[in-house]
Amino acid sequence: MSSDVKNQKEATIDIKTEKDIVYIFDTTLRDGEQCPGAAMTEDQKLEVAHRLEALGVDVIEAGFPISSPVQFKAVQRIAREIETPIIAALARAVRKDIEVAAEALKDARRKRIHTFIASSPIHMKYKLGLEPNQVIEKAVEAVKIAKEFTDDVEFSPEDATRSEKEFLVELISRVIEAGATVINIPDTVGYTTPEEYYQLFRYLIEKCLDADKVIFSAHCHNDLGMATANSLAAVKAGARQIECTINGIGERAGNTALEEVVMAIYTRGEYFNVRTKIKTQEIMKTSILVRTVTGMVVQPNKAIVGDNAFAHESGIHQDGVLKNPLTYEIMTPESIGLPSNKIVLGRHSGRHALKDKLIRLGYVLDEQQLEEVFHRFTELADKKKEVYDEDIVALVDDATRKRSYNRYEIIKLHVFTGKGTTPTATVKLKDNELKDENGNPKVLTEAATGDGPVDAIFNAIDRITGISSKIKTYRLQPISEGRDAQGQANVLLQIKDRMYAGKGISTDILEASAYAYLDAINRFFSRDESQSVKYTKEGDTI
Ligand code: KIV
Ligand code: ZN
Repeated sequence: MSSDVKNQKEATIDIKTEKDIVYIFDTTLRDGEQCPGAAMTEDQKLEVAHRLEALGVDVIEAGFPISSPVQFKAVQRIAREIETPIIAALARAVRKDIEVAAEALKDARRKRIHTFIASSPIHMKYKLGLEPNQVIEKAVEAVKIAKEFTDDVEFSPEDATRSEKEFLVELISRVIEAGATVINIPDTVGYTTPEEYYQLFRYLIEKCLDADKVIFSAHCHNDLGMATANSLAAVKAGARQIECTINGIGERAGNTALEEVVMAIYTRGEYFNVRTKIKTQEIMKTSILVRTVTGMVVQPNKAIVGDNAFAHESGIHQDGVLKNPLTYEIMTPESIGLPSNKIVLGRHSGRHALKDKLIRLGYVLDEQQLEEVFHRFTELADKKKEVYDEDIVALVDDATRKRSYNRYEIIKLHVFTGKGTTPTATVKLKDNELKDENGNPKVLTEAATGDGPVDAIFNAIDRITGISSKIKTYRLQPISEGRDAQGQANVLLQIKDRMYAGKGISTDILEASAYAYLDAINRFFSRDESQSVKYTKEGDTI
């Protein structure tokens, strides 16, 4: 932060009692999920919501209910199941959106409607085709409609950081008068800088009527890599809510990373003079779960949750850390829930050890789920010596994921590949819908070639299932460390006008790829809309 900003320290708001709390508004399930490749099924969203509750977030933005029936259903289920955090739903500044959001939130113990309309000249003119006074009218009307359903109403002037400041003052003053309780200032396109964002908050907090009656909130995108710095600058200026996502996932370069702002406030408490209610030891588990369900990897040098974030490679550093960890560590691995000894279970670990481990990782499974996970664990422990936390999280995710119906199951996979050969795959599938002459599920075999072994496998599966899909994403990543690490494959297929996410894990990466592809295809055959999301063309989001 520049000295200019530092010099304004005396201008920051007086911190008394609750004023020293910065509320954490998690939007992993809304803004985070909006990015290509992060699509989650309804069950996965619910699992993430439970994890966010355990992490201690204050608000979970569960989705944008008007955008699809699946979004609606997911928000509704989260509203019904989650107990402590406020559940927020997004709505454009139009009656229908707000009514649908209110309906989805109906059963929430604590609910918030988050309504928005663009306020920058470029958005008002080209996107909305509205004059500034019409935008104010619509915003005020939207807040009033939202107030019919809940007291807790958040308003966002979209693209606020490219809006005219005087116009923002008028717009915000009017929505506060209409009853908005939280005013969010989005840096929608990731354009601002810490100093500029700080000044904007100071200006708005000083000029808007009744600014002291509402909570100001920061919402930053990371296009220029400044989302965390910008959000923290807003806190310095008086913002008391930060909107963020786990691992910083989100459209384009992502949103502010929850773990970064939380750990900055935790580590530099004396500088920020505020605190959050986040249980920091839950950060790593949450980060791993979001990686597992979305298949979005975290760069090794990512702050806080990257693989190297606590690794000291250089001799000088290692020597220092051994003598006193504080020489090079500003926070401990334990503070984010990273056990110093990551290797936990192996071939000789029994049910009891697994159960203990699961509880420590935050899972409460019923007897049947525990049996299923234990069975898979023993299979895995036979293949690899050390079973890491990440392996266990992936096993649980895989074993407990509800599938309404699995039409196809892989019985055999054979792949022939190598330099100078045409990759060929032979796949044998059981088709639970077709019966043979003895009334048993029919077994179908096909072989196909491809540009590579994975392409050959997918082609062979296509021949059996008769599916023609477009692969939007295919990702392969190791789940844990070592040569015998399990690989996780994630695919996102477009079949007709819907997107199907599939995931597969195995110590054999070709097998993992086949599982992932078939998982997505089975979701298509389940004919259950909650297993897919509607395909939206790039740029066709809100
Ligand atoms: O970035 C943005 O402007 C948003 C709003 C809908 C809050 O996500
Ligand atoms: Zn956003």
